[in-house]
Amino acid sequence: MSKKMRTLTEPFKIKMVEPLRITTEEYRQNALEKAGYNPFLLRSDDVFIDLLTDSGTGAMSDKQWGGIMMGDESYAGARSWEHLQTVVQNLTGMQYVLPTHQGRAAERILYSILGGKGKVFISNTHFDTTRANIEYVGSEAYDIVCKEAEDVESYHAFKGNIDLEKLETLIQQHGKNIAAIIMTVTNNSSGGQPVSMKNMKDVRAICTKYGLMMVIDGCRIAENSYYVKHREEGFENKTYKEIAQEMLNLGDAFIMSAKKDGMVNIGGLLTLKDEALSVKCKNLLIISEGFTTYGGLSGRDMEALAIGLEEVFDKDYLHYRIRSTAYLGEKLREKGIPVVWPIGGHAVYIDAKKLYQNVPLEEYPGQALVIDLYLKGGIRCVEVGSVMFGKYDENGKLIPAANELVRMALPRRVYTQSHLDYVLDVFDDIIEIKDRKKGFKITYEPPFLRHFTAHFEPIK
Ligand code: F0G
Repeated sequence: MSKKMRTLTEPFKIKMVEPLRITTEEYRQNALEKAGYNPFLLRSDDVFIDLLTDSGTGAMSDKQWGGIMMGDESYAGARSWEHLQTVVQNLTGMQYVLPTHQGRAAERILYSILGGKGKVFISNTHFDTTRANIEYVGSEAYDIVCKEAEDVESYHAFKGNIDLEKLETLIQQHGKNIAAIIMTVTNNSSGGQPVSMKNMKDVRAICTKYGLMMVIDGCRIAENSYYVKHREEGFENKTYKEIAQEMLNLGDAFIMSAKKDGMVNIGGLLTLKDEALSVKCKNLLIISEGFTTYGGLSGRDMEALAIGLEEVFDKDYLHYRIRSTAYLGEKLREKGIPVVWPIGGHAVYIDAKKLYQNVPLEEYPGQALVIDLYLKGGIRCVEVGSVMFGKYDENGKLIPAANELVRMALPRRVYTQSHLDYVLDVFDDIIEIKDRKKGFKITYEPPFLRHFTAHFEPIK
């Protein structure tokens, strides 16, 4: 390949296509009204470029589709299960592997056993379903991402790291009540930023010192390995898979939403080193997900996942993956759009507070940007700010989240560089309206995870 090449050539060719529908702004205005101005409530047919999530939205390879045909649908001890188990044991170094229908099912099983009233979990940053599963069983969840992550626009190689000093302090405060330390890799809610091997090793040492359990929430472990290889000394000559193996081996448990780096549309994993704990988890798995050799999955799902977990470590794929996200983010920055820096692995995060400076926080600037992106370009993405994380004080006044971000997550192997160039064009229209003064109010919200189903109205 030419060294001078500036085009992001996708390392695959297209064998099957799914048409996209082009709509007008007027049509999209109508669709928004019907959806209560919540992009989660839009019909996907009405979306042109869908950057809502990288979860379960990727394209499978011809090899994976071939595997689908080979899936063994036996209830117990299926061939496809054995295939998956072997791949996962090899990757994690953990003996006990439990399949689940997706990541949050693994979270519910593990955290309902480890947690309970008075228990404490500490993480670099809990993902929202992780926090919800912990709080649902009456436990507390502390996020202590490193200081460098606070300044969203300055460069630091591993902004996903946990703050080790705060970790020791919290351990001293909560002692025996600590249920586990959870390392989210990459750190999704903190901008998709990577965690260094050094930070993981330090956490391992602290867990060993205090006899605590270390859980790795590693649904983007391959993407994290890319950064370790290219940014951390001593890993230049290791393969991405070797780096992932080394990191996962540090944990006592591994939780994975396979819908990300598993390269499949559905699936999850819970793997453990401890036998006694694995027995408890398996009992709960059988009650709620299915028998231990399929969890909530069909044989073909497990076959495709076993293949996906190998493909994701392909060096050309990972380079294309990380570079395409960076391409979108870097070009946005060149246009003057404030983005979380450096660009993370699976998504570009825009600082809506800075872009829409005139929209008050109580009127959700992130939601305003999400709506404008859909209206102007049919692009769907998600607010990660006060809609998602805001709370109310006793007078019902909004306590805003630390940041007002908008996440544009890239599905794996789905969009080409020209799709990304289109998104960049739409931002030229956004720049023209960035001085808007009014935002949105919430007209309906549920008690948990409100961003999924809340309704909004534009403030006139
Ligand atoms: N942990 C992390 C770090 C995640 O990003 C997710 C899902 C989960 C756990 C839960 O897994 O969806 O399979 O139940 N993240 C998706 C997202 C939903 O859009 O970031 P799940």
